[in-house]
Amino acid sequence: MCGIVGYMGKQQAFPILIKGLQRLEYRGYDSAGVALVNENGDLNVYKTKGKVSDLENFCADKDITGTVGIAHTRWATHGEPSKRNAHPHYSQSKNIALIHNGIIENYLTIKKFLISKGYTFQSETDTEVLCQLIEYMMQEHNLTLYDAVYQALKQVTGAYSIGVIERNNPNTIITSKMSSPLVIGVGREEFLLGSDASAIIEFTKNVIYPKDGQVIRIERGKEIEICCLEDREQKIKPEIQQIQLSLEDIEKGGFDHFMLKEIFEQPKSLSLCMNGRLQREKKEIILNGIQEYGDVFAKARRIIISACGTSWHAGLIGKYLFEALCRIPVEVEVASEFRYRNPVIYPDDVFIAISQSGETADTLAAMELAKKQGAFIYGICNVVGSSVARLTDSGTYTHAGPEIGVASTKAFTTQVCVLVMMALSLAKQLKTIKDEDYHRIVTELCNIEAKIEKIFEKKDEIKEMSKIFTYARNFLYLGRGYNYPVAMEGALKLKEISYIHAEGYPAAEMKHGPIALIDEEMPIVVVAPHYHLYNKILSNVQEVKARKGRIIAIVTEGDTEIKKQTDYYIEIPKTEECLSPILSVIPLQLLSYYIAVAKGRDVDKPRNLAKSVTVE
Ligand code: G6P
Repeated sequence: MCGIVGYMGKQQAFPILIKGLQRLEYRGYDSAGVALVNENGDLNVYKTKGKVSDLENFCADKDITGTVGIAHTRWATHGEPSKRNAHPHYSQSKNIALIHNGIIENYLTIKKFLISKGYTFQSETDTEVLCQLIEYMMQEHNLTLYDAVYQALKQVTGAYSIGVIERNNPNTIITSKMSSPLVIGVGREEFLLGSDASAIIEFTKNVIYPKDGQVIRIERGKEIEICCLEDREQKIKPEIQQIQLSLEDIEKGGFDHFMLKEIFEQPKSLSLCMNGRLQREKKEIILNGIQEYGDVFAKARRIIISACGTSWHAGLIGKYLFEALCRIPVEVEVASEFRYRNPVIYPDDVFIAISQSGETADTLAAMELAKKQGAFIYGICNVVGSSVARLTDSGTYTHAGPEIGVASTKAFTTQVCVLVMMALSLAKQLKTIKDEDYHRIVTELCNIEAKIEKIFEKKDEIKEMSKIFTYARNFLYLGRGYNYPVAMEGALKLKEISYIHAEGYPAAEMKHGPIALIDEEMPIVVVAPHYHLYNKILSNVQEVKARKGRIIAIVTEGDTEIKKQTDYYIEIPKTEECLSPILSVIPLQLLSYYIAVAKGRDVDKPRNLAKSVTVE
């Protein structure tokens, strides 16, 4: 995710653009930039690594005049966060500047073509390729900026919302969108662009929401002109709407909290995570890290996974995955223990660090230790260019998008998704999985986002259920196999945001201690989808029932047996067992969220916690 802003009007553009970027920083904040056309027709581009405030400081002594401009705050996908990869990008002649949110999928093919035409590139981004292609169209075919953008967009595949301006033309902005958000504000003799309305709401409440495939010319003193990529002749009349929401509502996309927004973003973040890796038509997984270093994994004595918090829970699921699918022994350890335990590490170990932020101090220290002792270091993290990413020999980004809520949600499901993709593609290389099993699981992975959407249909049911349990002082979460770490994650979510004590336990281990806690007051969440240990967990449910515990069961759609034993249940769609954590964790996230809200907790900023723990 990235944020884009644009302005053309009577006022100086710079302060308005900066304000808009600050509002969009939730979409990414690893680098930022601005492009302005001043009175003399100069096109000035300023960029910095870091936050919008860094850009503002950087521009303090620059020429920031101009009543037209575009600006961008970046969350890296192609190319590390750096000044040269930051947007806006210049074209070769520096006559055009462009901002982009999204991914141009066929950028390598276009780049090759442009290189053959003598173009050189300053960055590693897909965006610069689009900017250069527009310039090529202008020069080769003698087109206006509007026509050149139109022709260039005909050539690209992928997702985008863009803003383009040109030297010597302080009167035009061209914009367009495809599967990425874009809103145009229409003020009094001024126009604004934004990734969402929060960027522009301070200046106008009159907006146009362009549709995918529309290419738009915004010209000073003229009507907005909209045409369609599919049919150049089709002219669309701009439809101006009024924004009803407040600024705060908009930043959270209409959700009450970032955590809720991020829970509901999971189908999208999983799509982004699998984009270009899961080949949906061929039913194949191509994961660069495994393609390139499969032999290192193949020769590994064992895999060690280390992480903290929610990322550690994802790591525990990784153990089940790699051992079942790849037949490689796996150890999983909390990073703070691993780093101080003088662990035995072999040079033929593969060490996997998992971290959303990529900055957790204990995880970094564990990685350094493993690296020093010669292990191969693989990273799974969300924040591009973070310290974890820099320390690795190879790795996979989760591409979940910025996670703001302190309680991690979409980071977890995308981490599990990466582990699934790693284990499947490795198992295929190692031939430890039968072709039919591989294809069946990959086919199911293609359906995972839709199945999460189905669970969201139960949100009101879960909300009602949550009200019943606000009285509880303790909760027990039980699960087996792949769903034992899910039980731990469910318990952690509840603790973090509602301050109710909760424990996640392997269901069968309950009888060795926690069973003593059970009475008619005690809620017990049993994660019990229908897989090979179903009968075993059914027995555990009966053990709880016999002690009058109040059971909330997570069951597979169509379940009959466990439902008979339970007071409350939430159904989730059937999927492959190894994918089930991606579904079974969703009702647990929602349950903890609604309990915390019912108790009046500050869900996005729970007491004593921090999003990124950079101290040990
Ligand atoms: C903190 C956060 C947790 C997170 C953990 C590990 O405790 O509150 O949500 O799971 O750190 O963070 P990481 O960024 O390394 O995944």
